[in-house]
Amino acid sequence: MEPDQSMGERIIGGDTMDDDARLDLTLRPRSFGEYIGQEQIKENLSISVEAACKRGAPLDHVLFYGQPGLGKTTLAHILAIEMGASIRVTSGPVIERPGDLVAMLTNLEEGEVLFIDEIHRLSPVVEEILYPAMEDFNVDILVGQGPSARSIKVALKPYTLVGATTRAGLLTSPLRDRFGIIHRLSYYDDAQMNRIVKRSAGILGVAADAEGVSEIAGRSRGTPRVANRLLRRVRDYAEVRADGVISHDVACRALKTIDVDARGLDDVDRKLLLTIIEKFEGGPVGLNTLAASIGEEKDAIEEILEPYLLQIGFLDRTPRGRCVTRLGYRHFGLEPGGNPSAQEKLW
Ligand code: ADE
Repeated sequence: MEPDQSMGERIIGGDTMDDDARLDLTLRPRSFGEYIGQEQIKENLSISVEAACKRGAPLDHVLFYGQPGLGKTTLAHILAIEMGASIRVTSGPVIERPGDLVAMLTNLEEGEVLFIDEIHRLSPVVEEILYPAMEDFNVDILVGQGPSARSIKVALKPYTLVGATTRAGLLTSPLRDRFGIIHRLSYYDDAQMNRIVKRSAGILGVAADAEGVSEIAGRSRGTPRVANRLLRRVRDYAEVRADGVISHDVACRALKTIDVDARGLDDVDRKLLLTIIEKFEGGPVGLNTLAASIGEEKDAIEEILEPYLLQIGFLDRTPRGRCVTRLGYRHFGLEPGGNPSAQEKLW
């Protein structure tokens, strides 16, 4: 099963084209100037864009990788806008047959951007189409059948491929090597998250004071998409249960109703950590055992739950398995090796 499917309901979870995702479009920055964070990436990309425009050539193919919600798709759209080009959007699992990709490529106009999300999920036969399409701007098409079948080369108009993936390690090297520009997006720091929440509140037209903004920012896992989702839930709460203004108190009350704690962990994150603490004495515990204990898919644990817990230092991956760190224990008011009966109360 795909990881996104097993925990699709999480407010802090991955991608679904639901109402929130559509609303995201209104919040999405449309230029490097509007885009907050990833400073080095923006600087490098704007140099590449300016140079390509000066030369009158399309931009080199670009690969973005990083956790869900950090802005890979947004940057792809900004690149197209800054190049003055239109963008066609697709994703790895949607392109089932080589012919689907050939059709997309041969329909591209000069300079257009083709954005392939989840590019690590292209099938090998589809991926092979991309090699000459990226390197030499042509595709090999098979005409006829049986012994008289032959392959003809069709030239493509120069274009830019932008690929995005949460799993750069799963890309084959022939594909990875064909991207001239590769960037890893990282989690956003507190100051950047505060600016993002403030900007989004302004666009949504909701009043929020500095403490309210900071509370939402601090629980957003360094991830703009999570911040924008939390902001909308807090706005709903403020409008219905308060005076419409997002203060610190309103934000805390709202976030309590949706069970997102002070560090942005939800019930699934807490279950993972508390299971390791209570059932496995803090670890190490192997991934298979952990997955069975909490009833989640292994892939979902590795791809969705763990990256943030590792990032904030609550979890450690060791050769013998997963361990909860001292910081992780302290989040629950516990100490490693402490009294398990005190921990009972946490369930
Ligand atoms: N909304 C989502 N991501 C953003 C970003 N990086 N900057 C500004 N607003 C955003």
